[in-house]
Amino acid sequence: MATQTIQPVKGTRDFYPDLMAFRTWLYDKVRVVSRRFGYEEYEAPMLERLELYAAKSGEELVKEQSYVFADRGGDEITLRPELTPSLARMIAQRQGELVLPVRWFSFGPFWRYERPQRGRSREFFQWNIDLLGAETPAADGEIVSISAEFFRTLGLSSSEVAIHVNSRRLMERKLDEIGVDPARRVEFLHLIDRRDRLSPDKWREWARDLGLAQAQLDRLEALLADHDLWQESDELRQVFDTAQAFGVRDYLVYDAGIVRGLDYYTGVVFEGHDREDFFRALFGGGRYDNLVGDVGGDRLSGVGFAMGDVIVELLLERLGKLPDLRPTPSDVLVILFDEELYGPTVALASRLRAAGINAEQVLEAGRLGKQLRYADRKGIPYVAILGPDELAAGHIVLKNMSTGEQEAYTEKALIEHMQSREFVP
Ligand code: HAM
Repeated sequence: MATQTIQPVKGTRDFYPDLMAFRTWLYDKVRVVSRRFGYEEYEAPMLERLELYAAKSGEELVKEQSYVFADRGGDEITLRPELTPSLARMIAQRQGELVLPVRWFSFGPFWRYERPQRGRSREFFQWNIDLLGAETPAADGEIVSISAEFFRTLGLSSSEVAIHVNSRRLMERKLDEIGVDPARRVEFLHLIDRRDRLSPDKWREWARDLGLAQAQLDRLEALLADHDLWQESDELRQVFDTAQAFGVRDYLVYDAGIVRGLDYYTGVVFEGHDREDFFRALFGGGRYDNLVGDVGGDRLSGVGFAMGDVIVELLLERLGKLPDLRPTPSDVLVILFDEELYGPTVALASRLRAAGINAEQVLEAGRLGKQLRYADRKGIPYVAILGPDELAAGHIVLKNMSTGEQEAYTEKALIEHMQSREFVP
């Protein structure tokens, strides 16, 4: 009996070449958009001390979702569940040397012990982009606008996705007006954050358990339904104006229900959502005034967001907008006409590579039809044939696999021809 395949860890993905091609494509888009706005790429360790998150990430992330283990020296280590605390640590360590404002981005893996569900897994990739050292709402506006520009780059219009914006500062003021004890704000922010995940009855019950009287609860519910509340906040008005200036105002909506689950946010907060509201948040972020200080630096405010790869792929799939990617990098398959021509065939393939053409060669001679079928199934756009007649005449036949056309070239002309074409990546 064959031994059973060992199962992969739940919530992880095997990146077979077709999935890997999507990840690389997404990473390319992330790099293009981030760099276009002047952001520098960085990376942090995958392993961090648990205490880094204990500072401000919030109980759920630290106590329920982190993969934690003791290393051999006895330190409590975690696989990073998010990047912002590492970013804050890196900034704090070099605070005197960095040119402000810092504009940095990153794309890498994260781990959270969550129940795997649509768009959420246990090992996932995030694009993080952050701007630190500028307190003006123009900075929040820039970050929000980059997220909209990214959607645009993926071909997602403002009728398909929206960025829901709010301000914790504004909500805290409003909670004060309702009479919530300032010492218990965090609990109320969690209550608001969880509203769309609970039934209305369960949610109200929780609110009452937190000590809200009926009149206060009514006021809170009215507040959360108020679409014009943002007019009361200078910073939100400026964020919307900035988005207008960036030409992405149509992507933004005001949503009093957005407060975010992580505890370090202090100002503007926002989340990306599909307009159908089919998925959970596509991305999330906001302003954090105290995180750099909390991990040992001087106070330095930042704003940024993170977007997961899983949810973006699902959304593009649902909207029929997944790119048509071929995993093979080969521009041309060099056919092996018969074994006697092995030497000249390898030499031809080598010269094509030296000219910058991705050339894959057939290993063993066989029927031409079989070799062509291989190229077709792999999606290799061209096939080069070097038979005895071609060799004698100093020619190579190039077959275009999508049109079926074939034409004889000298090697020099073939290389020029292929170099002049735009090959599908
Ligand atoms: P977050 O809301 O915890 O924020 O995560 C941001 C995004 O990461 C989510 O909207 C989702 O796209 C993706 N994500 C989160 N958990 C999972 C999961 N289990 N599986 C797949 N994707 C997931 C943060 O992480 C903040 N550190 C963002 C930030 C950066 N704030 C300021 N700068």
